[in-house]
Amino acid sequence: MISLSRLRSFILIAFAILMIIALNSALAQKLGPDGAPNPTASTMTEQQLLQQSPRIEGDIAQPIERARVLIQPAGRAWDYFHQVTLRWIGAIAILGMIAVIAAFHFAIGRLRISAGRSGQKILRFNSFERFAHWLTAVSFVILALTGLNITFGRITLLPVMGPEAFSSASQFAKYFHNYVSASFVVGLVLLVALWIKDNIPRKVDVDWVRQGGGFIKSKHAPAGRFNAGEKLVFWTAFGAGAAVTVSGALLLFPFYVTNIAGMQLALIVHSVIAVLFVAVIIAHIYIGTLGTEGAFEAMGTGEVDLNWAEEHHDLWLKDELAKKRHADQSRETSATPGE
Ligand code: HEM
Repeated sequence: MISLSRLRSFILIAFAILMIIALNSALAQKLGPDGAPNPTASTMTEQQLLQQSPRIEGDIAQPIERARVLIQPAGRAWDYFHQVTLRWIGAIAILGMIAVIAAFHFAIGRLRISAGRSGQKILRFNSFERFAHWLTAVSFVILALTGLNITFGRITLLPVMGPEAFSSASQFAKYFHNYVSASFVVGLVLLVALWIKDNIPRKVDVDWVRQGGGFIKSKHAPAGRFNAGEKLVFWTAFGAGAAVTVSGALLLFPFYVTNIAGMQLALIVHSVIAVLFVAVIIAHIYIGTLGTEGAFEAMGTGEVDLNWAEEHHDLWLKDELAKKRHADQSRETSATPGE
């Protein structure tokens, strides 16, 4: 008969042997024969692999270079940027801009034509200029909404729409985003070609800024065809438009020009500039519609009231009236017989 104390010792020893075997096989699975971590081990956590990643070496028989990447630790930082940082930048820029505009609108209100309407009109933008502007503007709004869905859709629309509707809408929006980028680029190139000469900074712009665009003294500051604020919109559209176009093309045709790190950088540049661009254009839309009496007509019918032109673009109006007088005079001269 085995005594009770012997039986207890036997069980304890057997348990200890089993534990050693289990630990040993777990360790053997974690580490390969060369002592390096075994990435396929079921006991290997992703976190452990990432910590060990600089030590993982070997050859991969894969002809496509980008497919040889097993682990890219920089992808973690990029993912954090995409899921967290970008959302903060976008929310602060866009909601901040809307808050500033709302505060301005309720505190100061719409900028009126101080002399009232004269009833006389002058052409400010011809039909081709308006076509180029609206092509850019409509494309931009579509790109902004479909782009913002990529960044914010999951936290704003997904809970409301549900996963199925949201995923099909998002897929459609992504295609739309890709194709509409072409009309945006065409519109922007036309705008730049048409207006660059009127947007070169001049001395009068420095004075316009010094006078706070006329807001400080409540007297309109002198300005040519575009004032300094509008020139800022133009150069922002030019610079930010070029940056989102180049970075967007890299994303649209992945890995043609750059590697995975370049793709991540392209997405950071594209998304940060895009959300800031949207914030600037929100201000532009406000100023061109609700914010300034008589401004929208410039892009609507193309004609503005003479008093509006005098208050916002006096130097341009002077030039236009002088050109008109000159054209009238030469017409009269050529129409007078015997001269
Ligand atoms: C979507 C709504 C938009 C509205 C309602 C709007 C409205 C206007 C108006 C009324 C003007 C004429 C201002 C004047 O006579 O001085 C203007 C000019 C201009 N717009 Fe827009 N716009 C819009 C979108 C855009 C977009 C998306 C861009 C570029 C990406 C853009 C770029 C420009 C530029 C460069 C000018 C000339 C400079 C200036 O007046 O600021 N606009 N816009």
